Amino acid sequence: MPYETIQVEIHGRVGLIRLNRPKALNALNSLLLKELAVALETFDADETIGALVITGNDTAFAAGADIKEMAGASAVEMLESDFIPTFDRIRGIKKPVIAAVSGWALGGGSELALSCDMIVASETARFGQPEINIGVIPGAGGTQRLARAVGKALAMEMVLNNRALSAAEALAHGLVNRVAPVERYLEEALTLAAEVAGRAPIAIRLGKEAVNLAFETSLSEGLAAERRAFNFLFATEDQKEGMAAFVEKRDPYWRGR
Ligand code: CAA
Repeated sequence: MPYETIQVEIHGRVGLIRLNRPKALNALNSLLLKELAVALETFDADETIGALVITGNDTAFAAGADIKEMAGASAVEMLESDFIPTFDRIRGIKKPVIAAVSGWALGGGSELALSCDMIVASETARFGQPEINIGVIPGAGGTQRLARAVGKALAMEMVLNNRALSAAEALAHGLVNRVAPVERYLEEALTLAAEVAGRAPIAIRLGKEAVNLAFETSLSEGLAAERRAFNFLFATEDQKEGMAAFVEKRDPYWRGR
């Protein structure tokens, strides 16, 4: 399917989506978000793909929601718009999604990265929630996901006073998984995604679900859900294969069944 605002590539078992509005620093307009959701869902439904990577370019992952597009909107138009709900579609992707972030990850761009399961950043990445400068607050999960990722103190400073984080700070505060030189961050993200994509698909899916549940539920409910998923995996061929391969000292062959 041809896209206007993104580019899609396949690297082995990894689906790569490049945000592609470079003149607007990849600002997220409605078309881009819609195309992104469609591309993610298409890869999610494709059995030959095991993990996804979203990236921008070296200068900008995404500089936020498209301010020019939303500036004149009324509250009711915002309420009825698909724009913010599209982030729920992104959250609904079952396969692991890795953000490869270089340069600006601001506002909705930072929120998009935070909606992914892991983040590989370049040394030039800059994460921030500058919405306060334009009279609003983060609207695509920033207040919730940042508070969970970096804690209340720093999240407050970022949301209330536009405190941005360098890549090194983001790593120190647990916002990103790893930082690489700008020449290598995408390669690192693709390698990480390829590693994950090569693992047992059903266990990967349930592992993602279980970790995400940790941010939504009580410890005892989360532990119970984890136990159910763990027990369920003993009904899969991949569990039999994985444990047999260990005992027989050979590599497992995953069937995703
Ligand atoms: N929306 C629309 N256009 C944007 C944009 C955005 N978020 N960010 C950058 N652009 C456009 C600029 O308007 C400019 O376009 P023109 O050449 O047509 O004027 C182009 O991208 C290049 O930007 P700058 O000239 O501003 O580049 P710079 O290097 O001087 O500054 C920047 C870079 C600091 C990132 C600056 O562009 C900036 O502050 N951008 C806005 C960041 C922002 O406020 N993001 C939050 C948006 S609201 C949001 O995201 C809500 C939500 O939670 C969902």
